[in-house]
Amino acid sequence: MSHFSYRNGVLCAENLPLSDVAERFGSPTYVYSKAALTENFAAYADACKRAGHGDNQALVCYAVKANSNIAVLNVLARLGAGFDIVSGGELQRVLAAGGNPRKVLFSGVGKTREEMRLALEHDILCFNIESIDELDRLNEVAGAMGKIAPISLRVNPNVDAKTHPYISTGLRENKFGIAYEDALPAYLRAKSLPHLHITGIDCHIGSQLLDDAPLLEALDRLIDLADLLAAEGIALHHLDIGGGIGIAYNNDTPVAIGDYLGRVFQRIDTWRAERYDGKPIQMLCEPGRSIVGNAGVLLTKVEYLKHGAEKHFAIVDAAMNDLMRPAMYEAWHGVQAVAPRSEATQVYDIVGPVCESGDWLARARELALHPGDLLAIMSAGAYGMTMASNYNTRGRAAEVMVDGDQAYLIRKRETPAELFALESILP
Ligand code: LLP
Repeated sequence: MSHFSYRNGVLCAENLPLSDVAERFGSPTYVYSKAALTENFAAYADACKRAGHGDNQALVCYAVKANSNIAVLNVLARLGAGFDIVSGGELQRVLAAGGNPRKVLFSGVGKTREEMRLALEHDILCFNIESIDELDRLNEVAGAMGKIAPISLRVNPNVDAKTHPYISTGLRENKFGIAYEDALPAYLRAKSLPHLHITGIDCHIGSQLLDDAPLLEALDRLIDLADLLAAEGIALHHLDIGGGIGIAYNNDTPVAIGDYLGRVFQRIDTWRAERYDGKPIQMLCEPGRSIVGNAGVLLTKVEYLKHGAEKHFAIVDAAMNDLMRPAMYEAWHGVQAVAPRSEATQVYDIVGPVCESGDWLARARELALHPGDLLAIMSAGAYGMTMASNYNTRGRAAEVMVDGDQAYLIRKRETPAELFALESILP
């Protein structure tokens, strides 16, 4: 069920008209639905429970990069989520939001020594290691702190995720992970390092996958590798299947999360029963987009209508700096009028005020518009605000979370003075 729907001709977030949100908080504003967030997380958590995999056998680690507002993280932390982070900054957000560091996975190819120390101080669940050099560095940092670092190797299963090249990560040519052929020697090296403790194996082959076949293929390859490791005396405690399923932006039909996880658990359970006397292994996953993507919209106002010889433009107050995905990936987002008019429509390109031809949010949309009208850019909850910039000295949008008929400001709109507050001029 969508938590953004029309009531009395006005698009609402849960029970609150988006026009009320715009009146109170202005635009552009990201608006999130707490109910949608909760429901999306439950799709993962319930599938784990249904398969009889309780907390110690399955953990859903929300990928913070998709949307890192501390109110979002807090809602998920209260639901029992773990977190997948890729920087020390994200760890600090998780802590500020009341997240449990014992449920934190640290992914990413470029962890600095400071970031490793911070994560070790907080006893995170596991470091997902992406190279031999990183293994050596973590061993050294942990040793100096008198700690043992829990690690997993991110293995690159060389499976084609068939998604946008910028968000495909599981092929040999990508910068991510340790090549499949190199995984066994890398594990043996990790085993020989005194300040590391091997706890798992992980992979992440890409984002916005609608079909789970490549994900299951990657899982099979991890399982084969886990058997090879077991033969070398390396028993794993967890198996991390990476990011989540894609979402419907247009007419896409992603596989249901429950069906996907059902197939994952079926494979894992059969494997454990056949080869390990049923000894369980913990399943970890790192979904981002499917938890927040359709739980958020970007609310924007039409400033001008411009009718050219070739095209009609609706110039709105949101821009590529607020939502990068169209400019960067030619991503498609739905556009809905908050209060649709029953007038003749035109075909509009929805563009922002930034001085770049790439500054568009949507192309060729049939709408009846007047200046001042409000639009909702749909499914903008994931990789929207987190990828926003201050290009053209535009303060980043406000963020609001709606719960029932209540709206909460969860991030103020940035002011220009705040944007240059960290700068200084020469004496
Ligand atoms: N785990 C790792 C190691 C990742 O790199 C990612 C996403 C995830 C988990 C979460 O994947 P998800 O469940 O969201 O598919 N900015 C792009 C998406 C980049 C994804 C990067 N990694 C976009 O706007 O489409």
